[in-house]
Amino acid sequence: MDNKRIATLTLDDGRSIELPILSGTLGPDVVDMRALSKLGVFTYDPAFFATASCTSAITFIDGDAGLLYYRGYPIEQLAEKSDFLEVCYLLLNGELPSAVQKEEFRSIITHHTMVHDQLARFFNGFRRDAHPMAVMVGVVGALSAFYHDSLDINNPQHREISAHRLLAKVPTLAAMAYKYNVGEPFIYPKNKFSYVENFMYMMFGTPAEDYVPNPILVRALERIFILHADHEQNASTSTVRLAGSSGANPFACVASGIAALWGPAHGGANEAALKMLEEIGDVSRVKEYVQGVKDKKYKLMGFGHRVYKNMDPRASVMRSTCYEVLKELKLENNKLFQLAMELEKTALSDPYFIERKLYPNVDFYSGIVLRAIGIPTNMFTVIFALARTIGWVSQWNEMIADADHKIGRPRQLYMGEVKRDFVALEKR
Ligand code: CMC
Repeated sequence: MDNKRIATLTLDDGRSIELPILSGTLGPDVVDMRALSKLGVFTYDPAFFATASCTSAITFIDGDAGLLYYRGYPIEQLAEKSDFLEVCYLLLNGELPSAVQKEEFRSIITHHTMVHDQLARFFNGFRRDAHPMAVMVGVVGALSAFYHDSLDINNPQHREISAHRLLAKVPTLAAMAYKYNVGEPFIYPKNKFSYVENFMYMMFGTPAEDYVPNPILVRALERIFILHADHEQNASTSTVRLAGSSGANPFACVASGIAALWGPAHGGANEAALKMLEEIGDVSRVKEYVQGVKDKKYKLMGFGHRVYKNMDPRASVMRSTCYEVLKELKLENNKLFQLAMELEKTALSDPYFIERKLYPNVDFYSGIVLRAIGIPTNMFTVIFALARTIGWVSQWNEMIADADHKIGRPRQLYMGEVKRDFVALEKR
């Protein structure tokens, strides 16, 4: 990094400080504010609109240009030419694997897919109608009780094993959460299937019948996994990093990421988008619904993004996948999908959305694809969590591997009462 450039900050009392300007390999420069505390003041940036919370070499986003790179590779190329496990290897290790490394990685992950039999009992503690994300927060967190003793987070091999376990076992737990919800028996993983096929098998297979995956649907789900694998320092990833910065167990940290992802402003958006389409109900109601958005009664779910203010590059890939899947399943004339396309068209041509740079994000289309594949709405965010697990664990690993990392500890602008004396109960 280039540390020679300086920004000077002068306070209204005349005190000033020189702050280094840092340049990354891509993206805007950042002003290194760490020395500011010497003046006894802090920066105030509650939702991190202008704050870089760490350095990272994993994912790059340029929101204005609509770029997303994993380890330098554009997302469009990865979605077109790669597969999910290869992308996982890339995110975790920094480079694409050789053929030998790829096969070795596939074999390791495949042979870690079963969960401890005792874990299955955790599910019985949940109501059958529990939201699968609530179940996931619990059971992924519970993994920390199974692999706690052998884990020295300062040992790179131990961290690698934890990453492999998470990558391999989260799909098994996700499928179990679904099976528990619908009252069907758990389906054990099958090693003859690819990572994505195996997940579909555990979701849709039954002990009564053979399961034959549809390659177009497998490819669509593979793309959803690739597109959601990492996204720089978003809310859930920052949560995982903050939890991990204290030296906490990685399975527990990933559970905290799942909790953060659940919200409708983040990973819950594809579920919320589908529910919104169902609420609108008919193409004839699109205009009226959009008017409600413009009157600020509610937001258009699956639209807008904190970082992408031009277009979400993941949305373009997902849009074409969406058409592929609808064609394969002969669903082009389905009422819900026609309604989605009408909503997209209406919003894209309306000045309210154009002025605010509000475009459909990846979740608008991924919700439609997941619905077409047969994944129930309440599992949408679970799919996102499954795919994002590799991002979370890669970011956690990157942070712990940095010998200089410290516990994250934001400060605050205190707006409460000034000092006052305790008032006895009879005087209140
Ligand atoms: N529908 C209608 N208006 C919107 C929307 C929307 N989805 N998103 C933003 N706006 C308006 C907002 O009301 C504001 O208008 P005004 O200037 O008149 O006050 C303006 O656009 C700027 O919005 P903002 O709230 O400052 O934008 P933000 O960067 O804080 O919010 C967001 C980003 C993703 C939380 C928001 O766009 C949103 O809630 N979208 C719907 C939920 C969604 O689809 N989330 C998934 C994001 S993609 C998955 C992921 O990466 O996690």
